[in-house]
Amino acid sequence: MMQEPKTIAVAADGAVLTVTLNRPDVRNAFNEVMIEELAHLFAALPAETRVVVLTGAGPIFCAGADVQWMKKSKDFTEEQNAADARAMARMYRLLDECPKPVVARVQGAALGGGSGLVACCDVVVAAEGTAFGFTEVRLGIVPANISTFVLPQIGARAARRYFLTGERFDAAEAMRIGLVHEVVTAADLDARVEAIVGELLKCGPLAVATAKEIVREVPRLARDAAIDYTVRTIARARVSPEGQEGLQAFLEKRKPRWA
Ligand code: COA
Repeated sequence: MMQEPKTIAVAADGAVLTVTLNRPDVRNAFNEVMIEELAHLFAALPAETRVVVLTGAGPIFCAGADVQWMKKSKDFTEEQNAADARAMARMYRLLDECPKPVVARVQGAALGGGSGLVACCDVVVAAEGTAFGFTEVRLGIVPANISTFVLPQIGARAARRYFLTGERFDAAEAMRIGLVHEVVTAADLDARVEAIVGELLKCGPLAVATAKEIVREVPRLARDAAIDYTVRTIARARVSPEGQEGLQAFLEKRKPRWA
């Protein structure tokens, strides 16, 4: 990082990087500083990082965009507001397209942009009792930036309800609409996150990055282009050092040694 971040805490434990949203006084609402710090981190993760865990300090994962910060935008020109929104979109995109898998550990609430962050993560484990919601319309604003990342996860049907009503919904409903993968008791949250991190660490790092890219790219491509892309992708993976090591390790009945 350019300097010690002020709004996030970053801790490495071997190949696992834990990123904690760290403004608990405002329930980890993000302002321009947190947006910049997250973007800066996800633009260049440490080379040794293989899995990222995203979590929030205190009782709440993330209360979305900082309302105080957004309110100040009335003094900005439309161009300044667009630049602000573009910086936020860049942060979401860097998280969404991060080549390392990102596991979200969600507790308390993930509202507005907080639900947007959740949608950008690869595996989401939420504690029972967590509140989700696209609450922007309740504040007279809109879930615009996050829609690019949320819609592919929950689909138009769920979005037509929850983007329009701004209702809060529980973790079970978040799982039903595809925003969350697992709902566990608060006491089990860390153990489940750790177990999923363990599953990810068993896999070839480049293979995981490529699998993530496949999920993102294939739906964007026309069928012929999708087939070309996937043919080339598997052809490259098979002969890659990592692919060869994984196949060899299986045949030798040993654990693969990923570089
Ligand atoms: N932006 C700025 N400040 C926020 C905030 C946000 N999005 N969400 C919470 N805060 C602040 C509160 O204003 C309060 O500040 P205060 O101590 O100066 O009064 C502090 O964080 C604690 O909030 P509080 O509501 O008392 O905490 P809680 O634990 O009871 O509830 C939430 C937490 C997240 C459920 C609740 O704060 C909430 O609903 N926030 C709004 C979420 C939202 O609609 N976000 C969408 C933004 S687009």
